[in-house]
Amino acid sequence: AVLVGRRVKSWRRWGRAVGVLREFEEGCATPIGRLRQVVDAMVVEMHAGLASDGGSKLKMLLTFVDRLPDGKEEGIYYAIDLGGANVRVLRVQLGGKRSMILGHEGESNPVPRNLLTNSTVELFDLVAMTLKHFVEKDENGHKLVVEKTKELGFTFSFPVKQKSVSSGVLIKWTKGLFIEDTVGRDVTQCLEEALARRGLNMRVTVLVNDTVGALALGHYYDKDTVAAVIIGAGTNACYVERTDAIIKCQGLLTNSGGMVINMEWGNFWSSHLPRTPYDIALDDESQNRNEQGFEKLISGMYLGDVARRVLYKMALESDVFGDAIGGLSTPFALSTPMMAAMHEDESPDLREVARILEETMQVLVPLKTRKLVVRVCDIVTRRAARLAAAGIVGILKKMGRDGSGGAPTGRTKSKTRRSVVAVEGGLYAGYTLFREYLNEAIREILGEQVSRNVVLRITEDGSGQRLNRDSCRQSQTVRIVAG
Ligand code: GLC
Repeated sequence: AVLVGRRVKSWRRWGRAVGVLREFEEGCATPIGRLRQVVDAMVVEMHAGLASDGGSKLKMLLTFVDRLPDGKEEGIYYAIDLGGANVRVLRVQLGGKRSMILGHEGESNPVPRNLLTNSTVELFDLVAMTLKHFVEKDENGHKLVVEKTKELGFTFSFPVKQKSVSSGVLIKWTKGLFIEDTVGRDVTQCLEEALARRGLNMRVTVLVNDTVGALALGHYYDKDTVAAVIIGAGTNACYVERTDAIIKCQGLLTNSGGMVINMEWGNFWSSHLPRTPYDIALDDESQNRNEQGFEKLISGMYLGDVARRVLYKMALESDVFGDAIGGLSTPFALSTPMMAAMHEDESPDLREVARILEETMQVLVPLKTRKLVVRVCDIVTRRAARLAAAGIVGILKKMGRDGSGGAPTGRTKSKTRRSVVAVEGGLYAGYTLFREYLNEAIREILGEQVSRNVVLRITEDGSGQRLNRDSCRQSQTVRIVAG
């Protein structure tokens, strides 16, 4: 009787863990109907964000980039990329013949944790030092080139209200950087002042978001590239909009008739987004509460922690993790790369899952529990990938490229036009299951026929390579037409 009693108790506890899982799964559900609602909400918010500043949580920021590179660019350029935990500098040599990048060299340095929150001067001094170090090293090998090259491309992957193609003020920090005194300041000026302090005579001639970089690089290789999406630590998208549709900026004239819009879609919100108590708790405890809602459901900065929260709840409600809670209660103890590695563990006894749980969270769990862990990772990732897919279709729909016939007037072949979306970032490029879920959802929403004309193309390192004045500027020639 004692044995039977124990077994019943253990079943009940197991049942509670499965209950937590089921409830989470239901909360994360993204059936096709819901995805379509997200697509439509994205289109509505895009319109609202273009109509007026503050008209939507989608900021739909002007970039002043109205021409994208076409592969004929030539020369050597320096670029800086500040996007979060790392600062990178690079030198790129463009061939001038059809889409030829002759070479690129770079250096990347982690931004020390304390600098992520300290002061503007310290952060930009680090950036300037990294560049100085690289340029000086580089000068030995390329003296002549360096003497001529004083122009700098600056990829700054945060929301910026641009005043021109080369300047703009920081609206707010995202992705774990929170340095109060930078908000409202011109980031180009911050960088140039830091360069001057270090004795570097260089000028920022292009300031772009990483999405714009990805779009430019995508277009460099393929002229049908109309949008770009980043799914890495953060998530965001940009696309080419017709200037007459940018209502909040009446009279905006470009020779191409279009301009790249940085959507800052990480901040997108809609009541149709599937949100669970774990997401709400994550948001409540974050430094930017009620902000970056879409990003918190999709990007690498957060996915691991959503999974950890579910596992922690299971550990509290049942004994599937044994007695030890270990690191399960520690925020961000489970990173997204670790979560992905567990998710993609193909060994029959889920050895990798066991190792990661033990090493990162000090819990030893039986195979049955490891299987539950994999299911949690799957739910988190599937929801993220499908929501990102709905966002992408939203952009295509806004552009009249989703096959629904809503093409801008005067365009009749919208159903057959090929649309390439440049995609960058570890989640899509390096996480097979994420990529498969995303691609599958795009096919599901658009249907087989239309999705045949939609190409998602991984661009490597857009944040560095297309950063040069000639390839990303307000130009006098018509190269790309929106819509
Ligand atoms: C965050 C930033 C955005 C950037 C994205 C991807 O969402 O706000 O500017 O493009 O991360 O790096």
